[in-house]
Amino acid sequence: MTVTVRDLHLEVPDDVELFAHTRHLALPYVLWVPEAIVHRQTHSHPDAHYRSLVAEEDGEMIGTAQIGLAYDSPEPGQGYLNIYVRPDRTHRGAGDLLVRAAEEHLAAQGATRLFSWVLDEPGNRAFAERHGYRASRSAHFLRLDLANGTLPPLKELPPGVELRTAADFVDDPRPMFELDAETASDEPSDVGTEFTDYEAWLEETWKHPLLDLDLTSVAVVDGRPAAFSAAYTDRNTRYATSMTGTARAFRGRGLAKLAKNASLHRARAAGYKEAFTGNDTDNEPMLAINFWFGYQICATEVRYVRELG
Ligand SMILES: CC(C)(COP(=O)(O)OP(=O)(O)OC[C@H]1O[C@@H](n2cnc3c(N)ncnc32)[C@H](O)[C@@H]1OP(=O)(O)O)[C@@H](O)C(=O)NCCC(=O)NCCS
Repeated sequence: MTVTVRDLHLEVPDDVELFAHTRHLALPYVLWVPEAIVHRQTHSHPDAHYRSLVAEEDGEMIGTAQIGLAYDSPEPGQGYLNIYVRPDRTHRGAGDLLVRAAEEHLAAQGATRLFSWVLDEPGNRAFAERHGYRASRSAHFLRLDLANGTLPPLKELPPGVELRTAADFVDDPRPMFELDAETASDEPSDVGTEFTDYEAWLEETWKHPLLDLDLTSVAVVDGRPAAFSAAYTDRNTRYATSMTGTARAFRGRGLAKLAKNASLHRARAAGYKEAFTGNDTDNEPMLAINFWFGYQICATEVRYVRELG
């Protein structure tokens, strides 16, 4: 039994399909859709030096990695490697080979600190620690049963607040960029985000193939987008929130709840059966909002860090 590592063959649809399937088996709380995997690879900023790797055992894909540099962080030299091996194919050396290939690439691109999300299970944590990583922040995956659960009722809008969708901003998405940038920089994380490149945001975020502009809700105050909840879907039964945020000046007025509730109601009406999201375990306001909707924690990941050099 020989395990080898190579780059994903983006031009081969079956390879991308298998990549999505292999990742789904390891991490079913995330929407793994081939189109999105190709988009991420082809639209990542060149400074991210982004790569998707696969581990194969005798021709069978058993593990995957997505690796790159956090080019939009104010602190340079931060790299990430997110590695998942099929749960029924562990202990064959795939994880070890993927870590080595990832670390070699990231170090060659100038990374000095590496971050890796690790599902919170003793075997995974021991694996990360053996490779020189130490535990840092953690985050929950949450799931809401849209098909059988109940949603909070839609309320009358407060005075001065309008509810729109992202589709209303197609002619000029810049106000959405500004709101996304302001709120993303406040999201608790150990890798700071500061995106200032509008063209890169248009390519990576606004044109993301899973972003559903009609299900993405925007609360507008005095003509200005004040809060939003961005919806990804697999165009079938699964819906995921990619970001919820409220501009600093408008927090604590119920606008995040309002925007997300509108999006969830429309998603349910459109036939989506389950909703997913992910939150840092210290993000108390966002967790409180999600529990209010009825989301339940379905898994936890720990961010592991390794200093290189
Ligand atoms: C999280 C965030 C979206 C909340 O926006 P908001 O418009 O202030 O939220 P709302 O007013 O709709 O709801 C706030 C709810 O959070 C809860 N809350 C607020 N502060 C809290 C705290 N410190 N601890 C616990 N719960 C808190 C309350 O339940 C409150 O609801 P209530 O007022 O009805 O009781 C906003 O703080 C934000 O943009 N943060 C930065 C981006 C981010 O972290 N987004 C989430 C990414 S996963």
